[in-house]
Amino acid sequence: MRKARLVLDKDYVISAIDKRIYGSFVEHLGRCVYTGIYEPGHPTADEDGFRGDVLELVKRLNVPVVRYPGGNFVSGFKWEDSIGPKELRPRRLDLAWKTTEPNEVGLHEFAAWAKKAGAGVMYAVNLGTRGPAEARDIVEYANHRGGSYLSDLRVKNGAKDPLDIKLWCLGNEMDGPWQMGSKTAFEYGRIANEAAKMMKWTDDSIEVVACGSSSTEMPTFGSWEHAMLRECYDNVDYVSLHRYYGNPHNDTPDFLASSMNLDSFIRTVASICDAVKGEKRSKKQVNLSLDEWNVWYHSHEQDRQLHKREPWGSALPLLEDVYNFEDALLVGLMLITILKNADRVKIACMAQLVNVIAPIMTRPGGGAWAQTIYWPLKQASELGRGVSLLPQLTSEKFDTKHYTDVPVVDAAAAMADDGSVTIFAVNRDLGEPAELTCDLRAFGAFSGARHTVLHHDDMKAVNTEQDPDNVRPVDVPVDLGEGRVILPAASWNVIRLTK
Ligand code: AHR
Repeated sequence: MRKARLVLDKDYVISAIDKRIYGSFVEHLGRCVYTGIYEPGHPTADEDGFRGDVLELVKRLNVPVVRYPGGNFVSGFKWEDSIGPKELRPRRLDLAWKTTEPNEVGLHEFAAWAKKAGAGVMYAVNLGTRGPAEARDIVEYANHRGGSYLSDLRVKNGAKDPLDIKLWCLGNEMDGPWQMGSKTAFEYGRIANEAAKMMKWTDDSIEVVACGSSSTEMPTFGSWEHAMLRECYDNVDYVSLHRYYGNPHNDTPDFLASSMNLDSFIRTVASICDAVKGEKRSKKQVNLSLDEWNVWYHSHEQDRQLHKREPWGSALPLLEDVYNFEDALLVGLMLITILKNADRVKIACMAQLVNVIAPIMTRPGGGAWAQTIYWPLKQASELGRGVSLLPQLTSEKFDTKHYTDVPVVDAAAAMADDGSVTIFAVNRDLGEPAELTCDLRAFGAFSGARHTVLHHDDMKAVNTEQDPDNVRPVDVPVDLGEGRVILPAASWNVIRLTK
């Protein structure tokens, strides 16, 4: 039996949890939109062509905000193509994914879908092949009440009320050579600054996210953040972080340790923001938007083949990772890491929502089901609200190929307004259960306790349309009398204590 100890105190708080850390991402990529959220003619489709079965699964995730329409896609996108009568919208080649975009779902349709899903829109503007002028134009089109050419055009196109989009991304991964119109840090910082100014002059209620490095592996990681922030610090609110992990060598302990890399990524970028703040003698704090994160590696080879076979197709099954149980454990660990950095990470979007590296899968004309990674996200989004408590955690440790001193047990905790406390904990040990001793003296008595466990004996177990419940959380008996809970080997645990 492995051992760990967790001390929580209601007065030791990291920060309020911004609900937008449970955000998601819909890109015009593969089958995320077409045959994902949208499939007119599907037996569950509503009057607007949106799949009801998918919407139901999305609603259960309690997604507060959805990033849209890309991703790499956005760097070649003309937003004007996606408005007005559908039959007049152009079909365009998308150079990012070598596909053809029919523009059947556009700004109005997506905003309507997000409303049905109970989510806000986080809209990415194109700062790759376009610039500040087109960026401020879409803010006027979407958010101005009326009485100007662009806002009146929105009204003419069917939306009398402003779409009221509050959160905007200033381009996507602009440091990446794979990006249409990629830039140096200085070039990007200048353009981002001018775009942010003009967008905020158009609507001063919005917030904007500047592109950080697209990953820690970029040779310019760190220097990019510093140089571009020097140009735009005063006008931006967040810096983006993107992070995906894989397990191509089937080294599960090393894979499960990679959330430690996420933690250091977050801390490094926060430090750079603060360094620029210091240089500028600014009172303002720029926070972080982890607006793409997930496991991504299963579909790489399949995608290479597909691109060879069918370049320029539409709604191709791209990036369709089938997630297994160990992926769900890492997703849980990444959520724990996000919660433990709630003072700086204010937005996080699991990439993506449906079919494309996604918690939800669909079959065209057929069913929709939850992948393994759906469950930790759903549980954290449902119960990880309120404030993030400082988890004073001691745990046995181990080393892996790339990481040292990896805690066997990692945990985060949230306290809701009603005083209930939820502990999220992962036991990384693949062979032994862990006894977690919880010291919760400062909270007084709890009247109820519930413990759910996500575990499967097969680390590679998956959910399918035929067997959608193969990997899902189950209730286990809980007795916190002695303050001890048993975390099974290789498990994601949610322990809910109510007043
Ligand atoms: O989410 C898939 C892709 O990953 C996005 O389009 C891009 O921003 C990132 O590289």
